Amino acid sequence: MRISVIGCGYLGAVHAAAMASIGHEVVGIDVDQRKIDALARGEAPFFEPGLPEILAEGIASGRLTFTTDIAAAEGARVHFIGVGTPQQAGGYAADLTYVNAAIDTLLPHLRAGDVVAGKSTVPVGTASDLAARVSPTGATLVWNPEFLREGWAVQDTIDPDRLVAGVPTGPEGERAADLLREVFHPAVAKGTPFIVTDYATAELVKVAANAFLATKISFINAMAEIAEVTGADVTQLADAIGHDERIGRRFLGAGIGFGGGCLPKDIRAFAARAEELGKHESVTFLREVDAINLRRRDRAVQLVVDALGGSVFGKRVAVLGAAFKPHSDDVRDSPALDAAVRLHGLGANVVVTDPQAIENARRLHPQLNYTANRDEAVRGADAILMVTEWDEYRRDFTPEQASALTDGRIVVDGRNGLDPAAWRSAGWGYYGMGRP
Ligand code: UDX
Repeated sequence: MRISVIGCGYLGAVHAAAMASIGHEVVGIDVDQRKIDALARGEAPFFEPGLPEILAEGIASGRLTFTTDIAAAEGARVHFIGVGTPQQAGGYAADLTYVNAAIDTLLPHLRAGDVVAGKSTVPVGTASDLAARVSPTGATLVWNPEFLREGWAVQDTIDPDRLVAGVPTGPEGERAADLLREVFHPAVAKGTPFIVTDYATAELVKVAANAFLATKISFINAMAEIAEVTGADVTQLADAIGHDERIGRRFLGAGIGFGGGCLPKDIRAFAARAEELGKHESVTFLREVDAINLRRRDRAVQLVVDALGGSVFGKRVAVLGAAFKPHSDDVRDSPALDAAVRLHGLGANVVVTDPQAIENARRLHPQLNYTANRDEAVRGADAILMVTEWDEYRRDFTPEQASALTDGRIVVDGRNGLDPAAWRSAGWGYYGMGRP
């Protein structure tokens, strides 16, 4: 099928390449010439495992092309909208500028029978507004939210755990849902749940899923706060409650909290939208979820300060990790980078290392010292702060290796990923999050 994908960021670039990899003829469109040039050369503009391979394969097959010319969308039967919906400057609500611009520029190129599939995360109610603008062209708007996780985006796009299509009522909606089934044929053929809903439900599914995940993380982080004043161990607590199938262990990783381009902004936009709808009390808890999350950053920084005797001024602190999570170079709202910036603000000589995110981090915070080399970061450090659980910092970093690099003997484990017993027995002061 001929498909266009408008917006070639984390979401759209992966979506375009993934659609080509399952046999479609895809054109990826973006206003950013540099991004398009890179993609057209087969270069992924960001780190995402598996993306370079499917980009190269799609381009070589001739099925995958990239352009800044929106007219190239003409002739595609399905047009995916994958542009960003960042947090508004000076507010909590989502900024819909890019979604509106994408629809505006696409409208003259739509033909009757085309499907416009919105993937961006939008406030509930957006799709019905957009549908009113799309309908006069004879095309149909569907809302097809994306649940991909960075680091697993290719797999999540090709083989999602569920597909959701918000469609208008009647035969028009049924036809559009069928067309989407055709687009996602390999997943549909293997029995992946394909849930057809109205617009509002589809929009809400996305924000509800992210709100739930954020709440789960903040729940365990709230337990970490209680553990800290009682001497309990939150990781054992998470293991123990996680065995209850109704609860489950995933997303009960206590630590420095969630960040990234989705969870923080999505829960804020959700709260802002609920307020507009006169239902702020329904999601007041999300403010609390946000507040707990941000307090964990303070806690990690405070642990370093306390461990260094009350001041980090002039002390060298190695910060292991800048990305908001491993397998990503994304530093948007990264708790790791935030902690590094705060320590710098307190006068520490901070050296940040990360296997993928240094460039992005440097662009945002040029005032910090960076090195791609972990050992160089640790050399001579008075304290180590581990904040992104890359294998290089968690699994493949022993206290013996660290001891050979520095006389400092303080390690703060912002992700509860290290083995406290091993570090302590090697003579280190180990400080975890919600652990004695
Ligand atoms: C998230 C959703 O998972 C995805 O479905 C949605 O489409 C986009 O937002 P992503 O932002 O890629 O995906 O990251 P995710 O893996 O969900 O992690 C989010 C944050 O939570 C990270 O900062 C991570 O470190 C943190 N986290 C995750 C925890 O602090 N503890 C956990 O147990 C799990």
